Amino acid sequence: MESISRIGVFTSGGDAPGMNACVRAVVRTATAHDLEIVGIRRGYAGMIDADFVDMDARSVSNILQKGGTVLKSARSEGFKTPEGRRQAAENLRSAGIQGLIGIGGDGTFRGTTLFYDEQGIPSIGCPGTIDNDLFGTDETIGFDTALNTAIENIDRIRDTADAHDRLFLVEVMGRDAGFIALNCGIGGGAELVLVPETLTEMEDIKQRIHSLMSAQARSSIVVVAEGDEHGGATRIGDALSADPAFDHIDLRVSILGHTQRGGAPSARDRVLASRLGAAAVESMIEGHANVMVGIINNEVRLTPMRNVWSRKKNINYELLKLTQLLS
Ligand code: F6P
Repeated sequence: MESISRIGVFTSGGDAPGMNACVRAVVRTATAHDLEIVGIRRGYAGMIDADFVDMDARSVSNILQKGGTVLKSARSEGFKTPEGRRQAAENLRSAGIQGLIGIGGDGTFRGTTLFYDEQGIPSIGCPGTIDNDLFGTDETIGFDTALNTAIENIDRIRDTADAHDRLFLVEVMGRDAGFIALNCGIGGGAELVLVPETLTEMEDIKQRIHSLMSAQARSSIVVVAEGDEHGGATRIGDALSADPAFDHIDLRVSILGHTQRGGAPSARDRVLASRLGAAAVESMIEGHANVMVGIINNEVRLTPMRNVWSRKKNINYELLKLTQLLS
């Protein structure tokens, strides 16, 4: 690969708290190494529209602590087509952009892999998603903040659940993974946690919740991952309500939704994002391509992009046992 002098940075897919801290680290590391750095707005959609802005160390002042992403994000339909990718590559080449730093989740990295195979544009990925579902890193940017937001909300729900002796089904995000559910279930003291990684029969769920409510005769909180095989908290709530055995139980469903994506990044996410952004630029300077930077056991590691989306990161089953032990 020719030596790199001008690179682009973009955020893509669902935004995650800490993406701005990562953009800042990418821009400042690039300028410290005398690389030109271009911000690409709205992810792949912005590549297709040539929505580019030259950046320098000062253009990322005062963004470290902000949620969302100053570069904006999008899920681009156009980039899924060969014509869209051709147009994006043409625009990047015309702007002199030789390599990309992409901050996002597995959809983002599927895109960069395909883009390299078809158009020869190299990328380094930074894991940015609240879901924490990426192979090749212990934690993704945004996960810690989302988890803290979810736990704060569960604490609030606990107050009102307790006041009314109610059963609450609290649905959290995570797409088809249970990292947020499992961890906020433990941190929020949930009586039961339902995650997509384990299959539980509806009859079993009913029986467990019923005995919880009968034994305690007070409030209970069940955390449900949105990707749970029964279709989330609303569906489970409907199944319980339709069963006469639950007639005497006062049940509410609360979906935390996009509140988990917003807000100022936690200290942990700011540090993680800063380390990963800097490592991404340095890896590109060293000549790496099509890898994701991650942190495993507190050390920066590179994982081929293809492995990031083709391999599954498992939840910690010990934590699942802990939810049962402590409930
Ligand atoms: O991947 C992040 C995430 O927030 C998932 O947890 C969720 O399933 C999805 O994005 C929601 O996407 P959107 O904001 O496009 O509805």
